[in-house]
Amino acid sequence: MNKLIFFVALLSAEILSCEGANPCCSMPCENRGVCTSTGSKSYECDCTRTGFYGENCTTPEVLTWVKTKLKPTPNTVHYILTHFKGFWNILNNIPFLRDGIMRYVLTSRSHLIDSPPTYNSDYDYKNWEAYSNLSYYTRTLPPVPEDCPTPMGVAGKKALPDVKLVVEKFLLRKKFIPDPQGTSLMFAFFAQHFTHQFFKTDVKRGPAFTSSLAHGVDLSHVYGDNMERQRKLRLFEDGKMKFQMVDGEVYPPTVKEVQADMHYPPHVAEEHRFAVGHEAFGLVPGLMMYATIWLREHNRVCDVLKREHPDWDDERLFQTTRLILIGETIKIVIEDYVQHLSGYHFKLKFDPELLFNQRFQYQNRISSEFNTLYHWHPLMPDAFHIQEQVYSYKQFLFNNSVVMNHGIHNLVESFTKQIAGRVAGGHNLSPALMMVAMKSIEHSRQMRFQSLNEYRKRFSLKPYTSFQDMTGETEMAAELEELYGDIDAMELYLGLLVEKPRPNAIFGETMVEMGAPYSLKGLMGNPICSPEYWMPSTFGGKVGFEIVNTASLQKLVCLNLKGPCPVVSFHVPDVKDAGSATINSSTSHSGQSDLNPTVVLKERTSEDRTSEL
Ligand code: HEM
Ligand SMILES: *[C@@H]1O[C@H](CO)[C@@H](O)[C@H](O)[C@H]1NC(C)=O
Ligand SMILES: *[C@@H]1O[C@H](CO)[C@@H](O)[C@H](O)[C@H]1NC(C)=O
Ligand SMILES: *[C@@H]1O[C@H](CO)[C@@H](O)[C@H](O)[C@H]1NC(C)=O
Ligand SMILES: *[C@@H]1O[C@H](CO)[C@@H](O)[C@H](O)[C@H]1NC(C)=O
Repeated sequence: MNKLIFFVALLSAEILSCEGANPCCSMPCENRGVCTSTGSKSYECDCTRTGFYGENCTTPEVLTWVKTKLKPTPNTVHYILTHFKGFWNILNNIPFLRDGIMRYVLTSRSHLIDSPPTYNSDYDYKNWEAYSNLSYYTRTLPPVPEDCPTPMGVAGKKALPDVKLVVEKFLLRKKFIPDPQGTSLMFAFFAQHFTHQFFKTDVKRGPAFTSSLAHGVDLSHVYGDNMERQRKLRLFEDGKMKFQMVDGEVYPPTVKEVQADMHYPPHVAEEHRFAVGHEAFGLVPGLMMYATIWLREHNRVCDVLKREHPDWDDERLFQTTRLILIGETIKIVIEDYVQHLSGYHFKLKFDPELLFNQRFQYQNRISSEFNTLYHWHPLMPDAFHIQEQVYSYKQFLFNNSVVMNHGIHNLVESFTKQIAGRVAGGHNLSPALMMVAMKSIEHSRQMRFQSLNEYRKRFSLKPYTSFQDMTGETEMAAELEELYGDIDAMELYLGLLVEKPRPNAIFGETMVEMGAPYSLKGLMGNPICSPEYWMPSTFGGKVGFEIVNTASLQKLVCLNLKGPCPVVSFHVPDVKDAGSATINSSTSHSGQSDLNPTVVLKERTSEDRTSEL
């Protein structure tokens, strides 16, 4: 008995005193140094190749010191890239300068991503299991050790605030805040559609696991993430995917016909249960719209390839078309999608050759933090305006008759016209999506994510010094301070969504400086971008290579619609110009002489965009 009491006393003393805690809880190693505990009181920082030395990797080597003195801050770089339009217009047309800057953008960003990957949510040290088990998302920062005094290590309170409370207090929308960058729902649904091929949490195993084992742009959302599903969706004729014709237009086949599982609630009628690569794309008509467009694109490219190679069998046509579509996706994501999101006047370029003389690993692993930061649900409005109709969430979700009744042409037009919500700055989440935000905070806690400030340091940003420094205002800052106690205890996801947006921008600094490295590494780390793959023969010859190299959102949509091309853009049309019937030029970089769209968007400056708000 006495022994037991003694043991319990010892145990509680151990738990209560901070002295007994893992010394790495205070995250003592700076500048990406690696902390290892040596006994219960001491630790060691491994500063190898950090450019720093000393007990906590805080003393810079000479070269590091010079570099940090010369390096402009991310906000300065962002300012330069989003201003001085005339300067950039000239520079964009000088190939070697454009290439040089693009090369710098790609290398400076992707060097921030560990490749090969390191940790995962169950391992805070490097080991073979963490490296090799593809069912895990990787982790950029290891989880906070289990035995720390607080959830964020040593900073902040013993418990984090109630999840529902913080979502209601800081994220819920009062009045819709439109994105000052003019992002359209066409963009928002592209984001959701594109990213769900690699953000595919395996809910049965838990938030640390993924069921998309390719960890990148594999178009599993078109073809299925396993062979059985792919076989169900393929036609096995001329390389094509199964489809159905409705009123002379191509749509995905039904679940009943192909027997590929989809998540639909019971009330959905059989004829509206479309089957596509991703099981969950019946959720939102915007996803099914893109799924339909990519299905049409696949079958269209098959026809093109078959004309070039009448001797090729179904398998070769299918496989080569898939590579072409992967290439098109990466081209569109860099030159239309990231271009829009960045707000840069510098014209981004998808050109794998830029990296051929660089040290760059052609591999990628999706990280849990990337998934979390990509929960851009504030993009979603409170209701969806399609042609003359307004749909509530209840009417819109799981409703493929929206897709059938309006048709792809009208959906594209309506989604292009409707503006998306601003993501950073707080208070802009539709109540319909409250549960999703709660889940992402709960999951982050379960996976023991480190604090926002630790992530800022990891991505070469200065940690915020106060809640006001983070939000750029006083009201939320005061409430956050009361709930979290210490800025070093601020959680990542909530921080990203309440962070002060950059001037006239959709995101704050952290979202961009963290998101861009993951994004560019994932895009350029694709095998098709490697010297071994990046050549015409990989894509069925010159014709296929040309399809990849001239892809654009506009072409993707318009080559797969009958009749005149609708307005299609990641940017809502200029309200002032929309009245005057013929609008010239385009937001798109690629040649579209073969498209003959009825209306193409006018090139707008960022001054135009902000003045309209
Ligand atoms: C009406 C529109 C939308 C609805 C109803 C919706 C709903 C959901 C739901 C229910 C989840 C799963 C949450 C969980 O249990 O963890 C989810 C996850 C997610 N959503 Fe959305 N969402 C919408 C739009 C978007 C948009 C526009 C984006 C933009 C990028 C987005 C990005 C994500 C991401 C990255 C995940 C994590 C996926 C995963 O890990 O499997 N969502 N969403
Ligand atoms: C290293 O960090 C620890 C804990 O934060 C601190 O006590 C110690 O003084 C630091 N050492 C140096 C040399 O700065
Ligand atoms: C990956 O890890 C999970 C969880 O430990 C385990 O269930 C699974 O079998 C592992 N997968 C492989 C391929 O080892
Ligand atoms: C689905 O959309 C159609 C119109 O496209 C509408 O008539 C119907 O009411 C919607 N379904 C639900 C359940 O709201
Ligand atoms: C559009 O371009 C055509 C020819 O390029 C020109 O004649 C016309 O005036 C332009 N319209 C507008 C509104 O700028």
